[in-house]
Amino acid sequence: MADHMQSADLCAATGLIDRCHLGDCRRLMEYLPASSVDAVVTDPPYGDTSLAWDKRCEGWIPAMSRVLKPSASVWVFGSMRFIATLFEAMEDAGFRYAQDIVWEKQNGTGFHADRFRRVHEHAVQFYRGAWAELFKDPQKTNDARAKVIRRKQRPAHTGQIDRGHYVSEDGGPRLMRSVLEVANEHGRALHPTQKPLGIVMPLIAYSVPPGGIVLDPFLGSGTTGIAAEMLGRHWIGFESDPACIRMQEERKRQGRTDLEAA
Ligand SMILES: C[S@@+](CC[C@H](N)C(=O)[O-])C[C@H]1O[C@@H](n2cnc3c(N)ncnc32)[C@H](O)[C@@H]1O
Repeated sequence: MADHMQSADLCAATGLIDRCHLGDCRRLMEYLPASSVDAVVTDPPYGDTSLAWDKRCEGWIPAMSRVLKPSASVWVFGSMRFIATLFEAMEDAGFRYAQDIVWEKQNGTGFHADRFRRVHEHAVQFYRGAWAELFKDPQKTNDARAKVIRRKQRPAHTGQIDRGHYVSEDGGPRLMRSVLEVANEHGRALHPTQKPLGIVMPLIAYSVPPGGIVLDPFLGSGTTGIAAEMLGRHWIGFESDPACIRMQEERKRQGRTDLEAA
C-alpha cells in the first residue's frame, strides 16, 4: 500500500483528517502522528498588520517539521518581507528553497503613493529529502492561443502570400507559468486575507499525491481544505480564531459555487 494511504488511514482512524481543529497550531500539531503529512500549504500570520490575530507565531516550523514526511514540500504565502524571515528557521528544520510563484491580483490593498502599485504576493516552496524522490506533479495549461508564426526566411514570392507564415494551433499542454493571474476575493471575502481557490489548488495538485494529506496550520476561512477536497486530497487544518470556523462553513458553500462557475 502506498505510504500516503497508510498515513491517511491512520489520521482518519484517529478523527484528525478532513477537518479543522480549533486552537493554537503549535499545541495541536503534537496530536498528529510523526511523519504523517505529505505537504504543508499555508498562509501564516505575518505580524505586520494591525489585525488582532496577526501576531508572529514563533515555533510553528519545528512543530510542522515533526509531522511532515522525510520527503515533503512546504508552500508558504506572504510578502517577500515576511517570507525572507522564514529562511533561517526553515533551514534549521532541514528544508531548502525550491522555487516560488507569484500571485498576480487584479488589484491590491494598502497602496503607498511613493512606491510601485503592489498587486502581487509570493508563495515559496521549501522541500526536504532528495528532490528526485519528492512528489511533484508539474501542472499544465491548455490556454495557449493559436498564433501566426512568421518564417524568418520568407520564400521567394510565388503569388501565395500564405507561404510566408503558418498558424500554430498546438496550444498545449504547457507547463503552468510561475506567475498566476487569479482574481482576489475583494468584495466577497469573509476573512481579511482570504486566498482564492484558484491560487491554492495548483500548489496542492503539484505537491500532494492523490489521497495524500495536506496540512494548513493557519486555515483561516478554510481555503486549503476546500481546495484539497476538490482535488481528492485529504486535509488537516488548525485555526485559533473561533470566528473562522463559521467563515469556513460559509466559505465552503462559496467554494462550491466557484467550482460550478469555473
Ligand atoms: C493569513 S490568515 C490565513 C487566511 C487563509 N489563508 C484564508 O484563505 O482564509 C492566518 C490565520 O492564522 C490564524 N492564526 C494565527 N495564529 C495562529 C496559531 N498560533 N494557531 C492557529 N491559527 C493561528 C489567524 O487567526 C488567521 O485566521
